[in-house]
Amino acid sequence: MPHLFDEFSLKDVRLKNRIGVSPMCQYSAVDGVPNEWHRVHLGALATGGASLVIAEATAVSPEGRITPGCTGLWNDAQAEAFAPIVQFIEKHGVVPGIQIAHAGRKASANKPWEGDNHIDAGHPDAWEPIAPSAVAFGAHLPRVPREMTVDDIARVREAFAASAGRALEAGFKWLELHFAHGYLGQSFFSPLANKRTDEYGGSFRNRARFLLETLAAVRRVWPENLPLTARLGTIDYVEGEQPMEESIELIRLMKAEGLDLIDVSMGFNTPDVSGVPWGEHAFLGPVAQRIRKEVGIPAATSWNISDPQKTDELIRSEQVDLVLLGKGLLSDPHWPYHAAQALGVEMPQRLLPDQYAWWLKR
Ligand SMILES: Cc1cc2nc3c(=O)[nH]c(=O)nc-3n(C[C@H](O)[C@H](O)[C@H](O)COP(=O)(O)O)c2cc1C
Repeated sequence: MPHLFDEFSLKDVRLKNRIGVSPMCQYSAVDGVPNEWHRVHLGALATGGASLVIAEATAVSPEGRITPGCTGLWNDAQAEAFAPIVQFIEKHGVVPGIQIAHAGRKASANKPWEGDNHIDAGHPDAWEPIAPSAVAFGAHLPRVPREMTVDDIARVREAFAASAGRALEAGFKWLELHFAHGYLGQSFFSPLANKRTDEYGGSFRNRARFLLETLAAVRRVWPENLPLTARLGTIDYVEGEQPMEESIELIRLMKAEGLDLIDVSMGFNTPDVSGVPWGEHAFLGPVAQRIRKEVGIPAATSWNISDPQKTDELIRSEQVDLVLLGKGLLSDPHWPYHAAQALGVEMPQRLLPDQYAWWLKR
C-alpha cells in the first residue's frame, strides 16, 4: 500500500514522495518574463520537501494572460528567464513542472489584491478577451469576450504546442495543460460557457474537440518519456453543468491522446457556485478516486488538503497517486517535513536542504 512518502514514477520521471506544489499565479512578471520573485518563491518551495514544483499558469499568448503580471511562454526570452529557476529546482532533487494556460474570457483582469476584476476596457493595460462564445463570466468579470473564429482556435492550439516546446527548452520535466477553473480550455468544454453551433460546440464530442486537439498538438512536441498532464474542472457543483460521466469520458479520450495523469479540479465556469463543500478536507478525493478507477489513469488532486494523517490516508486508500498543495505550502513551505514529523516517518529522503538539515534533523 503506497503512502505519502513513497516514491512515485511516471514515464521517466521519479518523484521522491507524493507531495507536489500546485500551480499558483504570482501576478508578478513583467511582459510575461519571470524574475527574482519567481526565483525566490519557486526556490523556497523547491527546498521545502515537496517532490514536484509546478510553476504558475503561464500564458501561451499575450491575450491568454489573466493579468498583465502573469508569466508567459510565447517568446524565447521568457523561456530563457525560466531556465535558471528550473536548474535550481532540479539541483535540489525536485522535479520542475509548469502549467501552460490561456485565460479566455477571464483574461485582462486586475491582480487579486488590486480588485480581482476586469480592467476597464478603455484602460491602456486592457486587452480584448477571447472565448468560445460571446458570453461574459459575470460578477467581477463582466466583459463580454469576442467569439473565437476557427482560425483563432487553430492559432491558440498551436500556441499551446509552441509553449510546450519552450517549456522543454527551459528544462521543465512535467507539463500540465490548464483545462480548469473557467479558463479557455474549460470554457470550451462547459455548456455554461460554450454556446457555439459549429464543430466546437453543442454535443459532447464538439465541446471536447478543442481540448483533445490541443492535447494532441502538445503531445507531438512534448517528449513521450516525460509526463504530460492536464488539470480539468471535472465538477462545478452548479445546476446545468456537464454530467460527471462526460468528464470521465473526456479524460478517457485524453488518455487515448497521450495524457499521463489527470489533476482533478473544479470548473469555476460561473460565479454562482453555492454547493462546494468547502468545509471538508480533500473534498475532491472521492471524485478523483472514481476517475482514477473508471479511466485507469494516475490522478492528483488539490483543495483543502492540510492534515498530515488525512493526507496520508488519501494516498493509502488509493484515492489519488499524488497530492498537490497550494495555500498550505504558502503558509509553510516546509509542510512535507512537518508532515513527516507528525506521521512519525523516519526521514526517508531529503526533505530539507543540507544547509538546514544539519541543524533540524531529528
Ligand atoms: C495564490 C494562488 C494562485 C493560484 N494560481 C493557480 C494557477 O496558476 N493555476 C491553477 O490551476 N490553480 C491555481 N490556484 C489554485 C491552486 O493551485 C490550488 O488548487 C488551490 O489553492 C486549492 O488548494 P489549497 O486548498 O491547497 O490551497 C491558485 C491558488 C492560489 C492560492
